[in-house]
Amino acid sequence: MNASADPGMGLNAPAYVQHPRLLKWVAEMAALTQPDHVHWCDGSQPEYDRLCEQLVAAGTLKRLNPAKRPNSFLACSDPSDVARVEDRTFICTDKKEDAGPTNHWVAPAEMRERLQTGPQALFRGCMKGRTLYVVPFSMGPLGSHIAHIGIELTDSPYVAVSMRTMTRMGRAVFDVLGRDGDFVPCVHTVGAPLAAGQADVSWPCNPTKYIVHYPASREIWSYGSGYGGNALLGKKCFALRIASTMGRDQGWLAEHMLILGVTSPQGKKYHVAAAFPSACGKTNFAMLVPPKGFEGWKVTTIGDDIAWIKPDAQGRLHAINPEAGYFGVAPGTNYKTNPNCMDSLRRDTIFTNVALTDDADVWWEGMTDEPPAHLIDWQGKDWTPEIAKQTGAKAAHPNARFTVAATNNPVLDPHWDSPAGVPIDAFIFGGRRSTTVPLVTEARDWVEGVYMAATMGSETTAAAAGAQGVVRRDPFAMLPFMGYNMSDYFQHWIQLGSKLQASGATLPKIFCVNWFRKGPDGKFVWPGYGENMRVLEWILARVEGQARAQEHVFGHSPRFEDLRWDGLHFSAEQFHSVVHIDPQAWQAELALHEELFGQLAHRLPAELPATKARLAQRLAQRLATVAS
Ligand code: GTP
Ligand code: SPV
Ligand code: MN
Repeated sequence: MNASADPGMGLNAPAYVQHPRLLKWVAEMAALTQPDHVHWCDGSQPEYDRLCEQLVAAGTLKRLNPAKRPNSFLACSDPSDVARVEDRTFICTDKKEDAGPTNHWVAPAEMRERLQTGPQALFRGCMKGRTLYVVPFSMGPLGSHIAHIGIELTDSPYVAVSMRTMTRMGRAVFDVLGRDGDFVPCVHTVGAPLAAGQADVSWPCNPTKYIVHYPASREIWSYGSGYGGNALLGKKCFALRIASTMGRDQGWLAEHMLILGVTSPQGKKYHVAAAFPSACGKTNFAMLVPPKGFEGWKVTTIGDDIAWIKPDAQGRLHAINPEAGYFGVAPGTNYKTNPNCMDSLRRDTIFTNVALTDDADVWWEGMTDEPPAHLIDWQGKDWTPEIAKQTGAKAAHPNARFTVAATNNPVLDPHWDSPAGVPIDAFIFGGRRSTTVPLVTEARDWVEGVYMAATMGSETTAAAAGAQGVVRRDPFAMLPFMGYNMSDYFQHWIQLGSKLQASGATLPKIFCVNWFRKGPDGKFVWPGYGENMRVLEWILARVEGQARAQEHVFGHSPRFEDLRWDGLHFSAEQFHSVVHIDPQAWQAELALHEELFGQLAHRLPAELPATKARLAQRLAQRLATVAS
């Protein structure tokens, strides 16, 4: 080994790791966290299999029935560690205003003292009795000019195997890094050191949690959780919070968006990127099966959660999926609403917090009409439909998830792995709103689209710890994932649009959707899922300048006769109930936009309040007409 790589000595670094800065960092982190062993992940199948066996022996994973669900496992977490912890997520910029009012902020020096340097520093000795896994990964196709590399150090083998599915993980990353390539350093611990001889638990974690980002040095530090977005640091921490700051600095976008391909019966292919908040339908939309009446249409998946979007030389926006797998919501997934997803999960899947059947398969609420007669629920307790009726106990946690490789998806787009990405024709923004927001609206221009996205509200879901079903503003579905000041982010979108437009490029059209309006019976009125194809067809026709629409206060929406209804019984009255605009409700809604703009007033782009004033004026005219 080269003398400058000396810091790597004693770390068991493989000879192919020839990156002095990286070796030095791993050595420093090992000195801080004091693991018993260091393991460098090569990303191979034998390594994955070995780690899974080890997790089975430790009780973290249960192997599912190989005849029913080959090469698949169930993990049940600690009941306190089931979702992202937004309260414990920090953006540590030098100046508080650079994190902005929507983020939790602590000064970097103070945070470093809490985590690394202070007398009670949480990371000191946090990996005692455990193995430190060095997990090299690429977000995006290896070597793509849009991709970036990260190295996650973690004491969780569950995280190591999950990262292999969710990212391009393994030895090849070091070929791209070479001797001096850039990487985002990610340090993760479950925060549960083991004393000599102390027995481990099946899901180690710590009631104290920190999900910390230093945008300036592009570092991520995560303490105390083994779950999803808290622990798989390539996902929300890197691909959204850190990448959004990279995108701001370098002129691109990191978005909480699915990317789908859609091919018309005439063989024309389009690409759509859609931002919906957590548990609001991205995975389902990305795998949509066109319904009866839409034979000849085909939808293919590029990504189901995150998009990195850059202009090409001509100024056309192209998107890649930085991920390589899906960490998706299990409850509600079934063969009727998402057969492609169900087929993806037939093998090679790690399920977390779903229920176990008596024949060692999995089940969750909504998987089948009839629940099995007996299950072991996600907390290891007996579950029967009778018990559920009496106690309300869920068999699966509402945020139960599956982890599966994209390559398992039967409708994976042939270009999903293309280093150049796919050209975007339309952006869709959508929240979960039981009232007020119509099925679909097209923005009149880019800035109005940015306004719609910026002011989007959505009912909170089980994807994050805390209250559920509460309407909150979730700009661009990015509220929990913004790595910098939200107002600066709005500015970035407006500027990128005007720059591209000035260069003569065609911008994607922007639409706003809501699949979730409810009727007086409390049920969803719009059938959703595959039927969303009807809205998608209209959107694509609008992109082509073909479909008809009606202009209203907030933009353009289809009339009943502007959508195609072949194969579905959906009455004009039902349609009315999912599209009608109640001026009073919208007056209240605009007051909430105003409240958001008040919160974000510092550095808010002037275009947004100006747009609001125009909309408010249109609404006032409408109210006056209603009154007269
Ligand atoms: P994250 O992975 O948390 O980012 O979620 P997601 O946006 O990918 O949401 P997903 O597609 O997993 O859907 C979440 C929940 O919403 C599931 O229970 C779905 O069954 C349900 N859902 C998805 N699409 C629709 C729809 O069109 N209509 C209705 N009513 N429910 C939907
Ligand atoms: C989300 O909450 O938006 C998710 C799941 O996609 S997690 O990876 O936990 O962030
Ligand atoms: Mn998500």
